[in-house]
Amino acid sequence: MLVAADRVRFCDMNTEIRPIVVKIGGSTLGAHDTSLADCASLHAQGEAIVVVHGGGATVSGWLERLQVPSEFVDGLRKTTEASREVVVAVLAGLVNKQLVQQLSALGVRAVGLSGVDGATLRSPMNSRGLGFVGETPVCDPSTLRALLAEGALPVVAPIGLSMDARDLININADTAAGAISEALHARHLIFLTDVAGILDEGESVLPALDGAQADGLRESGTLSGGMLPKVEACLTAAGQGTQARIVDGREPGAVVAALAGTLGTLVG
Ligand SMILES: Nc1ncnc2c1ncn2[C@@H]1O[C@H](COP(=O)(O)OP(=O)(O)OP(=O)(O)O)[C@@H](O)[C@H]1O
Ligand SMILES: [Mg+2]
Repeated sequence: MLVAADRVRFCDMNTEIRPIVVKIGGSTLGAHDTSLADCASLHAQGEAIVVVHGGGATVSGWLERLQVPSEFVDGLRKTTEASREVVVAVLAGLVNKQLVQQLSALGVRAVGLSGVDGATLRSPMNSRGLGFVGETPVCDPSTLRALLAEGALPVVAPIGLSMDARDLININADTAAGAISEALHARHLIFLTDVAGILDEGESVLPALDGAQADGLRESGTLSGGMLPKVEACLTAAGQGTQARIVDGREPGAVVAALAGTLGTLVG
């Protein structure tokens, strides 16, 4: 009889598992999203998959509900001691467990964890006055590797440890996905988001984008906000032989289409 680990493709005694890392944006976690079903069917076919999730909108909702005042620095929300409690509770608790529950309902042995668990993600604190925010996380992949070798599907919330492990810190989910992809030598890094891909000045979806084009779009202000950490993570990943793609998570079958190379923007 095969044990779970035997079913994981590209895994034997001598070969490392090179998974697919899928970042699910909070903005696309809705009723019409098939991304979890995509992950479930790929996993059933023996693919090793790691899901990393955001959830900014749910955090904002809870901050409002709990009347925790928000402070902004250069348009970015500061993670204060008070808001950190909500960020950790909502991302590592509610959002993470909802995803694990939904994957479980699809028959997947999903295991929810955050970057805190197994010291999977550590980061220095930012120097931009954003509070408990880590911008340059490093990933220790050993806990994720153990889960993948067991045939489980890890679902990672973007909370990590400070370098000295004295603090919980909020990490951008895109940056976290990039660090995890890098440490696991992922075959694919897929960002599911709420736009059709990277849009150029004329709002057309670019089928591909390299570093020089990214610099140009950034300088002209066409590439901004939530797309910046995705592109940065993709460019780093591509430099290490990972296929990195930004696709519309609202499209049915988005993950499968991303693997086939028929959706969104290939970066690198
Ligand atoms: N050149 C560009 N092409 C496409 N989208 C862009 C571009 N520049 C900026 N964006 C913005 O980036 C957004 C996607 O990033 P955003 O952070 O909002 O979502 P997400 O990362 O998928 O979700 P979450 O942050 O909740 O995890 C798009 O909705 C769009 O407004
Ligand atoms: Mg985002």
